Amino acid sequence: MCGIVGYVGKRPATELLINGLHRLEYRGYDSAGLAFFTASGAIRVIKQAGKVALLEKKLIETTDATERENAHLGIAHTRWATHGLPTEENAHPHTACSGEIALVHNGIIENYASIRKQMESHGCVFSSQTDTEALAHLIGAYYKGDLLAAVSQALKKVEGTYGIAVISVHHPDQIVVARKGSPLVIGVGENETIVASDVSAIVSHTRQVIYLQDGDIALVTLAGPQIFTLDNATVHRPVATIEWEIGAAEKGGFEHFMLKEIFEQPMALQNAIRGRLDMALGTAILSGLNMTPRELATVQRLIIVACGTSLHAGMVGKYLFEALATLPTDPEQAAEFRYCNPILGPNELVVAISQSGETADTLAAVRESIQKGALVAGLCNVVGSTIAREAGRGVYLHAGPEIGVASTKAFTAQVTVLLMLALKLGRCRRLSREDGLWLCQEITAIPSMIEKVLAQSHAIEVIASKYASVSNAFFIGRGILYPTALEGALKLKEISYIHAEGYQAAELKHGPIALLDEHFPVIALLNDLPGKEKTLGNVQECRARKAPVIGIVTEGDHEAEEVCNDVIRIPRTSQYTAPVITAVALQLFAYYVARARGCEIDQPRNLAKSVTVE
Ligand code: AGP
Repeated sequence: MCGIVGYVGKRPATELLINGLHRLEYRGYDSAGLAFFTASGAIRVIKQAGKVALLEKKLIETTDATERENAHLGIAHTRWATHGLPTEENAHPHTACSGEIALVHNGIIENYASIRKQMESHGCVFSSQTDTEALAHLIGAYYKGDLLAAVSQALKKVEGTYGIAVISVHHPDQIVVARKGSPLVIGVGENETIVASDVSAIVSHTRQVIYLQDGDIALVTLAGPQIFTLDNATVHRPVATIEWEIGAAEKGGFEHFMLKEIFEQPMALQNAIRGRLDMALGTAILSGLNMTPRELATVQRLIIVACGTSLHAGMVGKYLFEALATLPTDPEQAAEFRYCNPILGPNELVVAISQSGETADTLAAVRESIQKGALVAGLCNVVGSTIAREAGRGVYLHAGPEIGVASTKAFTAQVTVLLMLALKLGRCRRLSREDGLWLCQEITAIPSMIEKVLAQSHAIEVIASKYASVSNAFFIGRGILYPTALEGALKLKEISYIHAEGYQAAELKHGPIALLDEHFPVIALLNDLPGKEKTLGNVQECRARKAPVIGIVTEGDHEAEEVCNDVIRIPRTSQYTAPVITAVALQLFAYYVARARGCEIDQPRNLAKSVTVE
């Protein structure tokens, strides 16, 4: 959703805040703003609709260098609109008490309408349609000389989610921050403190961070944070060390983060696999699970909760767990799961998949599962994220930061980790050591297989440019390739805005085939695996309606090549690794179509990297 950042220290704050916003822009990018102290002690607020770069331009044009040089404390925000259009008025920070208090907020104040009415009855004048402004005025109403106390009292009246940073003209050396439901991290530096929605805005200044937890409020000065509950009880939170370098959050010479992250997959998957395969016992070592083979053997059903691309990985997981571990597996859309009063018990293992570890619906599904007494494990990429911490056990992807909004390396790492988990659960059941060893070989070969697909990138680009002007597309596959087709469609949809749908290949005949014509391409996953013959039949049905067919085909499979208009060749794989290898080809196809259409690939319209509200 939104990204917030704050700074107090000895360095010029505005430049640092703007750089922090650039790093957080993947979280939301429809408007931005910052607030800082002027030499006269007043709070200066500058806001702009559109990207952070426009705000930066406005800052330079409307302030002088001395003013910026002398500002050593400030807060800033990049927005993903929930309430009110992405305009300058609705951009954050929002102020109260004629500008004496300024606030930036990530989340949703659900009871903002009643707070607004109450504040208006006290004479407060609102200048925006946002939920956040109501909180700013509420803090103002409670302010009696102690900013921390005023924010605590106001937050007790709030329903919803928040990560906030607040400043006041009466406290030019303080920032008050608090979180409930939205992430907030504090970076502890030498004579300076940075607060942000995630570590990507902090890592270039310090690697020592504190993850605030729900219900925490902190008084932040350049000496560091003091953390309390809303009832003013002191809270201790451990200092953690960020494990990745700032370079990981830069484009490294690639045109887009998405392309960089696609080409990073061999290395990212090596990191996800490293030290996790036992080549003697033919099983996987997933110490973060913290479960003995005996405990794993008692698991009778697996439930996977996730959203978007992570749910597609979970749907691939169903095929892996049922085939390799004979374990009934139900992938569930988290937003449905959290409200359907799920039937869970002590012998169910709930696996929550989330790249960011902050997706609100998946987090709520985790909390509901814990409430129901199920075993819960998190499968996350962001270390220290809320889902990872609250699940209490799980597996980190180690894929490195994923900045592009369209998830790529996280998907392939998620499926690879699910494959290792299925191997481990299988070896606690009927899977033999020989089969386990074979699977370890298969998994070890994934990075080099991906290299072979990346080597096809130019050929894929040529095909993609040919289809860049279409308005619709179908992706079809069978078995474990069905959720892979869903993922291919999602990638094309979210970055090129082409209306794409994924289907189980046989499903077309039950309606969707009515849409096909010569302008409606079908991307068919024709990997040389069980079910291919049937999919070839479905391809013939599409061709009979003049639909052009792009085949993802196993190299050397001429039978499949013959039925396609265009062919993307990938190496031969087993069905267990096919979704990973095929996904890379589909990611490249989507990327090159979107680039040919001139789309904003890293920050697609209307999207955000981590969905922290319902
Ligand atoms: C994928 O490209 C999208 N960005 C989106 O569907 C994403 O997968 C979904 O929001 C889940 O995010 P998570 O993995 O961080 O929970």
